[in-house]
Amino acid sequence: MNLFDVYPLIDVTPVRAAGATIWDEQGNTYLDLYGGHAVISIGHSNPHFNKRIKDQLDHLAFYSNSVKIPLQKELSNKLGDLSCLHDYQLFLCNSGAEANENALKLASFATGKSGFISFSGAFHGRTSGAVVLTDNPKIIAPSNQREDVYILPFGDSIAVEKQLKEGNIAGIIIEGIQGVGGIHMPSSDFLKELERLCKSYGVKLILDEVQSGYGRTGRFFAHQWVDGLTPDLITMAKGMGNGFPIGGVLIHPSIKSSYGLLGTTFGGNHLACAAGLGVLEVIEKDKLMDHASKMGEFLIHGLSQIPGISDIRGKGLMIGIDLDREAGPVRSELVKKYRIFTGSAAGKHTIRLLPPLNIKMNELSSFLDSLKKILN
Ligand SMILES: Cc1ncc(COP(=O)(O)O)c(C=O)c1O
Repeated sequence: MNLFDVYPLIDVTPVRAAGATIWDEQGNTYLDLYGGHAVISIGHSNPHFNKRIKDQLDHLAFYSNSVKIPLQKELSNKLGDLSCLHDYQLFLCNSGAEANENALKLASFATGKSGFISFSGAFHGRTSGAVVLTDNPKIIAPSNQREDVYILPFGDSIAVEKQLKEGNIAGIIIEGIQGVGGIHMPSSDFLKELERLCKSYGVKLILDEVQSGYGRTGRFFAHQWVDGLTPDLITMAKGMGNGFPIGGVLIHPSIKSSYGLLGTTFGGNHLACAAGLGVLEVIEKDKLMDHASKMGEFLIHGLSQIPGISDIRGKGLMIGIDLDREAGPVRSELVKKYRIFTGSAAGKHTIRLLPPLNIKMNELSSFLDSLKKILN
């Protein structure tokens, strides 16, 4: 049987990994500045994380949400502690798109409306509700098309208010920092204005923190850099399980639950919760949010010294670099000659860096040296 061929592949077959290092079949090592697309938060093969999963596997891997699963409560408590969002409620699922899909449903249930607003450059996933709010017509199938979805210019609150005045909007969804779009940060003023508009028009504000969350920017969620911002819904996945599939929605206490409103077979299963707890315990113990902040500053400073870079954006370990040339050949050379993985973005000139949060300074220095040699 053939695989359905939808991914252009880097010609490397990883077989083992530890921290930010990946080994291929031949025993070559690669530096992982892509983190498997922002998924590897606490580093590959963390011993505590691995033990958490192995121990759980030996007890109970899965049972459905029809029974008590105390690990879910343990996970939500720990998440409350680290994010300081104790009041929110947690719904567990399996991926970023699924988290967004559930957030959209909740916004629609809570308001009784069906329309949504997102922004140019946005990526929210590939399932039907999430994809139609994603700014990429190539991945929107005819069956996903909707009349009541509006992708408005990023940063344009006047356009948002104009649309809200038309009515029938349930929610506005925005990434904490746009990832796939090329690391674009919404300004604090824009986020505050969205929050104000949502309140005055009775609309729900959804912060998609699937990529920008889980400590990556140096705060637990990227939107927490904006003082006092209180989204109605916050979605997360990627870094949440360090590779174990898990996603979730944080739901403001003003949105009430009822039996059957949401549901999932696999979401919140025992193994996923053990993985999620393992991640949070390591983030806390190893102070990875502080580390991400420091390493981000080091990286941005180093990048600013390299000629051939026209723009550096981002926060913590979510960094976008615009080059004075196309990024594709530079990224290929980084892999082939220097054995360093980096990420691409929507813009042809952009390199995206999403390394594990425990990346070391000397690893970042070796990347800076390699990039300098290529761009010189
Ligand atoms: C901001 C954002 N939202 C949602 C998603 C979708 O997540 P998943 O691929 O887990 O469905 C992604 C994936 O890249 C993302 O970056």
